[in-house]
Amino acid sequence: MKQILNIDNITMKFGSLIANEDVSFAIHENEIVSLIGPNGAGKTTLFNCITGFYKPYSGKVSYRDKDITGYAPYEICRIGITRTFQIVQTLKEMTVEENVMTGAFLHAKGRKEAQSIAEEIMEMTDLTKKRHVVGGSLTIVDKKRVEIARALATRPQILMLDECMAGLNQTEIKDVMNLCLRLKENGLSLLVVEHIMEAIMPISDNIVVLNAGRKIAEGIPSDIVNNDEVIKAYLGDKYHAKSQKS
Ligand SMILES: Nc1ncnc2c1ncn2[C@@H]1O[C@H](COP(=O)(O)OP(=O)(O)OP(=O)(O)O)[C@@H](O)[C@H]1O
Ligand SMILES: [Mg+2]
Repeated sequence: MKQILNIDNITMKFGSLIANEDVSFAIHENEIVSLIGPNGAGKTTLFNCITGFYKPYSGKVSYRDKDITGYAPYEICRIGITRTFQIVQTLKEMTVEENVMTGAFLHAKGRKEAQSIAEEIMEMTDLTKKRHVVGGSLTIVDKKRVEIARALATRPQILMLDECMAGLNQTEIKDVMNLCLRLKENGLSLLVVEHIMEAIMPISDNIVVLNAGRKIAEGIPSDIVNNDEVIKAYLGDKYHAKSQKS
């Protein structure tokens, strides 16, 4: 499989605080990569460095061999990399359909085309029945669906999800997992930040673990759950013991 996104030695500092230190990994075509690690490990900061919200202190981000470090967020989105936000940003006054259309307008030539993209994406994300509901009155899970749908409407090649399963119940988590797998089947690559290991482990092709800004491990899920440093820094014995039993 071909590499499509390369993160090379990214370092990001806030004053004297080093939020990302020399982080490198790659995302291939048609792959789900998860980024895990304790609170404050630097996951969202790395998302911001990749998507142009922060300019890294040093290091390089390349998309299909092109250096995109320091591109503006809209430029990153236009070339095919879209992210969701840890704190959902549903437009409260707009309906679900209009929210999704705001993403579609990135490439659509007019309202009609944006509407037809929105229809297709709402169907895929189980939002069609709620298309006329305004963003402000949606439940958490539907707000998260809208957040994902709006990102998908920009027609990304790489979708980056920042904790989109937090606060959801088991069935809703399963829905998002299935959606991730469907998107992969459709040819997308995903970079997923998540704390819910039961959701991450079954869907990930590769897992990158951050701790205190540094990458401490990378590998397939079965290696990650048995990695002593990852258990010590993040997973704890609880998840380890549980996965050993099953
Ligand atoms: N804009 C900022 N200014 C100053 N410090 C920041 C800023 N954003 C993040 N940090 C700090 O950088 C470190 C990494 O934070 P980040 O939000 O990237 O962690 P995270 O892995 O996403 O955590 P969580 O799992 O809680 O979302 C933390 O110490 C945080 O306080
Ligand atoms: Mg975060």
